[in-house]
Amino acid sequence: MKERLRVAVVGAGKWARAAHLPAFHRSPLAQLTVICDLKEDLARERAAEFGVPEITTDVESVLRRDDIDVVDICTRGDHQDLVFATLEAGKHCLVEKPVASHYRDVWRAHEMAESRGLKTKVGLTFRHAPAMRYMLHLVREGFVGQPYIFNGFEQNSQWLDPDVPMDKRDLEQRPEGERKIGADPRPEAIEVSSLEGYGAPIIDISLCAVGDELREVVGTMKNFVPYRRRTNLDTARERINIDDASMYLGTYTNGALCSIQTSYVTVGNYPGVEARIYGSEGALICRLVEEDGNCQTLHAAKPDSVEFQPLEVPREFFPPGYTPGEGWASMFYANLVHDFMEEIVSGEAGNRGDFADSARVQEIINAVERSFRERGWVQLPLEPRSTG
Ligand SMILES: NC(=O)c1ccc[n+]([C@@H]2O[C@H](COP(=O)([O-])OP(=O)(O)OC[C@H]3O[C@@H](n4cnc5c(N)ncnc54)[C@H](O)[C@@H]3O)[C@@H](O)[C@H]2O)c1
Repeated sequence: MKERLRVAVVGAGKWARAAHLPAFHRSPLAQLTVICDLKEDLARERAAEFGVPEITTDVESVLRRDDIDVVDICTRGDHQDLVFATLEAGKHCLVEKPVASHYRDVWRAHEMAESRGLKTKVGLTFRHAPAMRYMLHLVREGFVGQPYIFNGFEQNSQWLDPDVPMDKRDLEQRPEGERKIGADPRPEAIEVSSLEGYGAPIIDISLCAVGDELREVVGTMKNFVPYRRRTNLDTARERINIDDASMYLGTYTNGALCSIQTSYVTVGNYPGVEARIYGSEGALICRLVEEDGNCQTLHAAKPDSVEFQPLEVPREFFPPGYTPGEGWASMFYANLVHDFMEEIVSGEAGNRGDFADSARVQEIINAVERSFRERGWVQLPLEPRSTG
């Protein structure tokens, strides 16, 4: 095995700068080799910032190269075509969520990666936060005993202001031929937004914490801020019917219960994740919210000591190069990326937070949407699985 895996990053925007590029830059197992962005100037700027030797605007040229081991897809919008092209080219693949909007396509991508011996990873960022990693470790060690109830929140006030454009891309001209999301104003036509964008990481954590599959869900979606700017090019607000808040209840095969709440019009700071697990022998609450200069806390209680007390997160749960006071985006993502590099280099079977995990999450998102449309409980899985 080579000393370092050679990495191509596709998409050099805001999140690549805040999370992906710093994470690859500091992983001792990765070598940033090329940055690809449709905007050449941006690719050049990022390459200079992170000491990356090459840039391109042509993703096809990246995929044709024999000397690239890992392709990281950090574009905004539909990732599905780039994911399949990356796997087709025989590269290990990290991609931002969602891999695809329909769970069947995510399973298909997982099966393709498996059949080619490729590792996959999805930007399910928050399971990789040091405090969350430690919480999930404690749960696996039996700290809470049999899990009874999981409560999950992923929420902040990112879109509370209607003048914050729905589309986060920095557009220079209006995209042609794109479908107008949320154009149908009827309440029953509301489109999935926060449930997918914010729901995926906390749904992922809920499955890890309970350690089982969901058996059934019932949920609802709501549009609280009906009029907002569509893009950075629009000055007027228009009716956009998307879920800016959602909630669901679920029961797991092992009998545990969960409630999940997602929203980006709820007052509070980033990233706005909270996971609570209550079991027969204890309870843990992990909070990933920037408050008082701290972006993560973990508290624990036991039946004979019911006041929640803070736990210190051991050093081994932090990423390489961690310095106290580091911001959440680079700290959490450095764990994600280094974990992925280790999985590839070690060649161990399976991996954490891969396309299979993402497919399970996407299936739940699709089931909650169906539950809302049919106004009732929906059973999972939505259809028998061929893998997973
Ligand atoms: N996991 C998380 O916590 C988290 C947080 C923030 C953003 N994200 C996700 O990260 C992704 C990127 O977000 P962003 O804010 O950086 O977006 P952005 O718009 O700032 O950047 C995306 C970049 O991708 C480039 N691009 C698009 N298509 C391309 C292609 N085919 N080839 C090459 N370059 C291409 C664009 O030119 C743009 O510069 C999104 O999917 C977003 O949802 C995830």
